Amino acid sequence: MNEKPATEKGNMKGKQIVVGVSGGIAAYKAAELVRLLVREEAVVRVAMTANATRFIAPLTFAALSGNRVISRMFDEGTGAIDHVTWGQDADLIILAPATANVVAKVAHGIADDFLSTMTLAATARILVCPSMNTRMYENPATQENVSLLQRRGIVVMEPGAGELACRDEGPGRLPEPSEIVEEARWILSDQDLAGLQVLVTAGATHEPMDPVRYITNRSTGKMGYAIAQAARIRGASVKLVSGPTSLAVPRGVDLESVTTALEMRQAVLKHFAGSDIVVMAAAVSDYRPHSTEGQKIKKGPETLAVELDRNPDILAELGQSREEKHCVLVGFAAETDDLLANAEKKLKDKNLDMIVANDVSREDAGFAVDTNEVKILFRDGKVETPPLMKKQEVADLVLDRAKTLWEARPRHGK
Ligand code: C5P
Repeated sequence: MNEKPATEKGNMKGKQIVVGVSGGIAAYKAAELVRLLVREEAVVRVAMTANATRFIAPLTFAALSGNRVISRMFDEGTGAIDHVTWGQDADLIILAPATANVVAKVAHGIADDFLSTMTLAATARILVCPSMNTRMYENPATQENVSLLQRRGIVVMEPGAGELACRDEGPGRLPEPSEIVEEARWILSDQDLAGLQVLVTAGATHEPMDPVRYITNRSTGKMGYAIAQAARIRGASVKLVSGPTSLAVPRGVDLESVTTALEMRQAVLKHFAGSDIVVMAAAVSDYRPHSTEGQKIKKGPETLAVELDRNPDILAELGQSREEKHCVLVGFAAETDDLLANAEKKLKDKNLDMIVANDVSREDAGFAVDTNEVKILFRDGKVETPPLMKKQEVADLVLDRAKTLWEARPRHGK
């Protein structure tokens, strides 16, 4: 395995993206979207409707993107064929916010300004992010326009619900810029895991002692969530079984929330048979209180002994029960000492295909941080030692290796 560690698969570096801003109150959020895309090293151009320029100045987008902004078809700065080249040179057009008017124009092929003409002439993929008053969004006219766009392969993001600027309650809010970027990553990815079912566990479990106390550990779930997100961006269908965390559920990932190790076991067993790649990144409590008191345990003697029962080892159970080659089984080993020896023993004892080992006593690896330095051990004895990487990069690397193992199986396909 001399292959260089993969960089992020959902990487937007060098991608040509046109952000089309129309005249809704959420136009200000497009500034953050452009900033995030530029931070991802995408080449960003911004087209605006005339109404959008009443909400936010073109200069803001010019400064953020580093490129000239076009808001008028026949301006001095607008090239004669910009309305054709912009949408044909681009990898992706993101219409955010897309007003009811712009949604209608794109759906019906109306080209009466730069933004709509450019969209009509485009060969790029298109992501539409509607944002408008709830009544406008729910109006059958808009709904039919949205489904028309979807039928043509345009991705339309569902607006968020809540209180809108106009004080109405309901759907109509522009999704957060970070969610739009995630959707863009998914559209632009080469979908190399399409058709695969990926099961991921993440986070710590809580083992209750009484109604207010529980035993847990320092896992935040970041690594498992990064794997679930990366797998979905790469086209897999992803089931995420997660202990309690404060993390946002990655877009397009099917979450099953659990609290205890026993609940996690149930959830995992339910989804195991249909899974092609199983990545167990959860930090499952090895023990649970023997009994859970119905009432809060009162302060009493100087010392209090709590009797603990061993929790089932979910991963070992999967490893031992699985039909040979039914799936690729990946474990994690969080260690504070003898990293390689301990990880190797787990790989063998639990009958895994690979194990990702990390030293959780380090400050830049393991729990609660955004980076990880891992070692990946394989069944045949090979050990890969990539450098310190962002958790998203580790996620892609783990998925790259799992995919290679999946493809190398003697009989694959179901
Ligand atoms: O033996 P240890 O807990 O260190 O093994 C870690 C690996 O086993 C992780 O992949 C973890 O998700 C999994 N595990 C499990 N059930 C347990 C304990 C650990 O699935 N009860």
